Amino acid sequence: MSTYDLTRLLPADHFSHALRHDVRSGLTASPKWLPPKWFYDARGSELFEEITRLPEYYPTRAEREILTARAAEIAVLTKARTLVELGSGSSEKTRLLLDALRGLGTLETYVPVDVSESALDAAGHALTAEYPGLAVHAVLSDFTKGLGLPPRGGPRLVAFLGGTLGNFLPEERAAFLRTLRGALEPGDALLLGTDLVKDPAVLVAAYDDAAGVTAEFNKNVLNVLDRELDADFDPDAFEHVALWDADREWIEMRLRSRRAQTVKIPALDLPVHFDAGEELRTEVSAKFRRERVADELAAAGLRLTEWWTDGSGRFGLSLATP
Ligand code: AVJ
Repeated sequence: MSTYDLTRLLPADHFSHALRHDVRSGLTASPKWLPPKWFYDARGSELFEEITRLPEYYPTRAEREILTARAAEIAVLTKARTLVELGSGSSEKTRLLLDALRGLGTLETYVPVDVSESALDAAGHALTAEYPGLAVHAVLSDFTKGLGLPPRGGPRLVAFLGGTLGNFLPEERAAFLRTLRGALEPGDALLLGTDLVKDPAVLVAAYDDAAGVTAEFNKNVLNVLDRELDADFDPDAFEHVALWDADREWIEMRLRSRRAQTVKIPALDLPVHFDAGEELRTEVSAKFRRERVADELAAAGLRLTEWWTDGSGRFGLSLATP
């Protein structure tokens, strides 16, 4: 008999408070910026799923290739009774790990941690149907501020996949890894996906696809602000920009204002002026080298014990232990 339960560690109005805070501070900063978490309303999540199927966007395929090849080995190395996934596991990659741990006979519990209750519910109910006997303890929390994991029942494997670690700025990343380390005990392990440094032309194409799906994904954050804050952004008045910052080794997505304009955000009583050509940064996606992953894990008190890449060396999957 599978079970599903949800623990809410965020107040019901967390979304609106956090959005108001981020928009006020980001759009009055210079240069203007927004955190990428606001991309993922229902439409944004749909567009991201479409992005993962684009020919130019290789990370999802590359990580899936590694997990397909290594899931059984990961299960044997960790013997995890609990799989924790930061970001609700509606993906096929989650199932590769669940299948391997079930095959080994250790799987008891799945703990998806996400800020979206609807995503948790969807993943949780699908997985209880597919994995008889699995206990799903969903956690509604912002894992960048604290994981809120349920009590430990044997070895845990915490999976943070997709390369989403790259969305943090370096200092945020260090703080996040320290928080993660604080939640782990001896016998636990972290499975971390990181996109790798490569030819900038390949990287930029992955964030500026010919079909314009990423451009629509990027501009969709303006629709989120229009709907949630009654703003009057016109997405067509902005141009999608994707660039490779070679010094910081990250892809940056921006929205460039096509003309001088002032956008009103009534919910914040905030007019926001854009000069012609002014750019609003909407996401960084850092790319890694093995040495940097090992160093950043070590700085957080985690030891890189296994490093795997796809056949073309595009994406890295690390296993690390406290
Ligand atoms: C979901 C954060 C891993 O950074 O590659 C995809 C999001 N942004 N295309 C990434 C994204 C533009 C993606 N992550």
